[in-house]
Amino acid sequence: MTARSAGAAADGCLLALDAGTGGCRAALFTAGGRPVALARREWSHPADAGIPGSQSFEVAGNWELICACIREVLAAVPGPAAVQAVGCSSMGGGLVLYDRAGRELWACANGDTRAGREAVAMLASGTAAELYRRGGGWIALSAPPRLAWVRRHEPDRWAAATRLSMIADWIVFRLTGTLVTEASIGSTSGMFDLGRRAWSPEIMTLCGLEPALFPEVVEAGTVAGRVSAAASRQTGLPPGTPVAAGGLDTALGLAGPRGAVPGKLTVTGGSFWKQTVAANSAAVEPAGRLRTICHVQPGQWLVEGISFYAGSALRWLRDQGVQGVRAAAGRPAGYAWLEQLAAAVPPGARGLTARLAPADAWTWAHWQPPFSSRPAAGAGEQARAIQEAAAYSTRLTAGLIGEMLGLSAWPTVILTGGAARSTLWPQILADVLGGPVSVPDHVESAALGAAVLAGRGAGILPPGGAAGDPPGAGGESVGPGRVAHPSPAGQRAYDLLYERWAAAAPRPSNRADHAAIERLYPSGMTRSGTSPKVNRPACSCSWLTSGGPVLSTWQPYVTITTSAPSQM
Ligand SMILES: Nc1ncnc2c1ncn2[C@@H]1O[C@H](COP(=O)(O)OP(=O)(O)OP(=O)(O)O)[C@@H](O)[C@H]1O
Ligand SMILES: [Mg+2]
Repeated sequence: MTARSAGAAADGCLLALDAGTGGCRAALFTAGGRPVALARREWSHPADAGIPGSQSFEVAGNWELICACIREVLAAVPGPAAVQAVGCSSMGGGLVLYDRAGRELWACANGDTRAGREAVAMLASGTAAELYRRGGGWIALSAPPRLAWVRRHEPDRWAAATRLSMIADWIVFRLTGTLVTEASIGSTSGMFDLGRRAWSPEIMTLCGLEPALFPEVVEAGTVAGRVSAAASRQTGLPPGTPVAAGGLDTALGLAGPRGAVPGKLTVTGGSFWKQTVAANSAAVEPAGRLRTICHVQPGQWLVEGISFYAGSALRWLRDQGVQGVRAAAGRPAGYAWLEQLAAAVPPGARGLTARLAPADAWTWAHWQPPFSSRPAAGAGEQARAIQEAAAYSTRLTAGLIGEMLGLSAWPTVILTGGAARSTLWPQILADVLGGPVSVPDHVESAALGAAVLAGRGAGILPPGGAAGDPPGAGGESVGPGRVAHPSPAGQRAYDLLYERWAAAAPRPSNRADHAAIERLYPSGMTRSGTSPKVNRPACSCSWLTSGGPVLSTWQPYVTITTSAPSQM
């Protein structure tokens, strides 16, 4: 947790809330986009007892953490009435189910992999291919397998569930009592008709889901409601404060007032690394190596690659208690220590390579520790290897996006999110990409975008696109910031290292072999402790047995890497 005060905002300010994979934060900005205060709390998403792969989103405890952040930043302004509007953002994919009275019945975080059996069935039947073609989502992050799991394993809860939402929508709901979804965050369910920016009736039918389950869709910045008396008591915000639907963290981070900037690649270095480019059409990448979602700006979509847990791997290392880091484990100071060690290690991490889970539309991607066994190498080598893997993966994805959108170079690369707090990580990224990497002054770009859109929605800021856009608004948020320029020696070294990594990195398969999957898992996903028979090259299965930063109770489970259906 940190708090930063850049002076109280007597003239009113905008509050943004962002629920990320690894933690939540409240950020206050002046109406001109200047950061006033920031409060953060880390969190994790524990497995439900006996349910391998589950990542429960603990609504009660997490809401308390969000409220604590809000109260902390409110202490930085003369009075809570200074807050003129609230915007809400979150990770994509996380889901909440509600009963008729609006009580949360069930919730999961974005990395929940309990629904392996359901996912395998959808892959095998071709449903996953149809879902991807229509909704652009990846199987491991989308709602359909998770909803199928609840229906199958928790029939009573399923029977009581009357509505669903994503996590950012849930924050709006907790503050106001109004349940809506916003297009960018809603589309991370993989259940949107991307072109129409609305829930897809065809996908509902495909999944056997009732339309009544799905809330109204609003555009980002729409004032969905006002802070209720109950939420006022919990947060300290004045009752009646306007609350705007925010959206997906990456989309808000790209919420430039002038829309898509050709050739601008934004790398959100959070718990997951996302490499994102705005596009003018809702097209999906035919091979499923990228996902497409709605942008917060109508008429635009985002094409992105996702490096699963690329940032969580560094948090995992920080919390491992490796020699020298133990004293600071669990505190952000641990990153500074790791950074110091990693900076002294040459490119290539003395031969150590961190692994990232392969991920695409067809892969049941999940957390795995970055090293298959505890390496003999020191913490500096491990930290550097993790940072290098994230950068390599970014280069790979940048190539795929360029291929899809017909772009051959990236004149502008921006790194935001937690990784942008580092000095070394942007430098490694610049060396690996072979071009400058800009780091904005304020790395909480999702919060900034949420605040600006809330300000516009509440009528405090002029509509987007005007010359008077606040300095922090999206495209301008890169500000002067910092720029990491590639060093000739670093670039040369990493060109070679990247080629080696790319040749050896495990990739999601692109070959279809659904019959093999069915033979492999005749009665569905293998339960913890039961070894699967691995007898088909199209499916790679591995067992994981060590702990991670997200799953507090780690249990072995099977991962399935499968392939793109032939009709795609
Ligand atoms: N000082 C630091 N130095 C290096 N890396 C850091 C530092 N602080 C945070 N990080 C990295 O940033 C990650 C967290 O970033 P962030 O808070 O943006 O993620 P999040 O919002 O929780 O996740 P996501 O956006 O993927 O849902 C950590 O896991 C770590 O990899
Ligand atoms: Mg985030």
